[in-house]
This record gives sequence, C-alpha cells and structure tokens, in this order.
Amino acid sequence: MTRTPLAALTLIAVLAVVAPALGAEQPVDPYPISDANAGAEPRTDDSVFRAFNGKPGIDRVVATTIAASVADPRISDIFEAADLERLQRTLSEQFCYLLGGGCAYTGRDMKTAHKDMGLRNSDFNALVEHLQDAMDKEGVSFRAQNKLLAKLAPMQRTTVER
Ligand code: HEM
Repeated sequence: MTRTPLAALTLIAVLAVVAPALGAEQPVDPYPISDANAGAEPRTDDSVFRAFNGKPGIDRVVATTIAASVADPRISDIFEAADLERLQRTLSEQFCYLLGGGCAYTGRDMKTAHKDMGLRNSDFNALVEHLQDAMDKEGVSFRAQNKLLAKLAPMQRTTVER
C-alpha cells in the first residue's frame, strides 16, 4: 500500500470516531427532499408557532423530548444507534413546518425514517408523554399543545409497525 491511501484511511478512521463526539451529523442514503415528507399539511397561520415561543421554543421542546426519551428505560434502546444531532434538527424543522412557522422540512418521510425499527404503540405513547412534559416545561398552552398532537396523531399509523 502506498503512503497516500494509508493516510487517507487513517483520516477517515479518525473522523469516524471523532465526528460523532463533535456532534456532526452522519450521512444518510440519498432521498428526495420535500415538505411532503413531513407527513401532514402545515397550519396556515403562525398563532400556534408563536405559542411555542417560535423556533427557539420548538428547539427546546425537541431537545427536552429527546433527552427524556434517551433516558427512559422503556424506549432508550431504540435511540442507541440513532443520530441524535440529525434527529434534533429534522424534528425541529418538522414541528416548525407543521405549526406554520415557515420552516422547510429536509428530513426523510415518516415511513422511511422508522423502517424496520419495530416500533410499538407503547413506544409511541411513551414518546408522546415526553413531548407533553416538554411542552408543559416550555409553558405551551394546552390548546396549542393539542394542535401539534393533532398533526402527529395520524403518524402513529406510519411509524408504528406492531
Ligand atoms: C408522530 C410520531 C413521530 C414523528 C413525527 C417522528 C419524527 C421523526 C423524524 C423527523 C425523524 C428524522 C428523519 C430523518 O432522519 O430524516 C425521526 C427519526 C427517528 N425516530 Fe421518530 N418520529 C415519530 C415517532 C417515533 C417513535 C414512537 C419513536 C420511538 C419511541 C421514534 C424514534 C426515532 C428514532 C430512534 C429516529 C432516528 C433514526 C436514525 O437516526 O436513523 N420516532 N423521527
């Protein structure tokens, strides 16, 4: 082996270890980017988006939900191999888009994103519990909370497999 490929391989190996620690997103298989991947139509006014304290509020709600899910022994295994950096970004985009905040959703569609995870209804309910706690912490009114939950409820069918 010549020196150059060895150096390149070493660099790749180092990056593979260091990048996740730095919070860099991992690459995913290519897919068509479209707001339609968000799985529901967005609200046509921004009143609920504002009730979430805008994008910074949504970012906090998503971060709190992910942290609680990762720490919940009922569902923590599911998140073990996940790219949490990417999940934080795409889930925030999705909520912002659905709530009429004018964000573009750049993530995968719900069926593809949860394919072969074997999610159960009980997993879904646990995640929603954490989302509700996170929205409470953010001071989001119940009326506004229910508007988001109404957008997400039909996605139980596309994310849960058994
Ligand atoms: C309304 C229901 C749900 C919505 C809206 C949702 C939303 C999302 C989004 C936007 C992504 C990222 C897509 C991408 O990477 O392109 C994702 C991935 C993921 N979701 Fe969900 N999800 C839902 C249900 C669930 C449930 C019930 C669980 C488990 C308790 C779960 C666990 C995960 C995990 C672990 C990933 C990351 C996969 C990876 O890194 O490869 N999701 N979800």
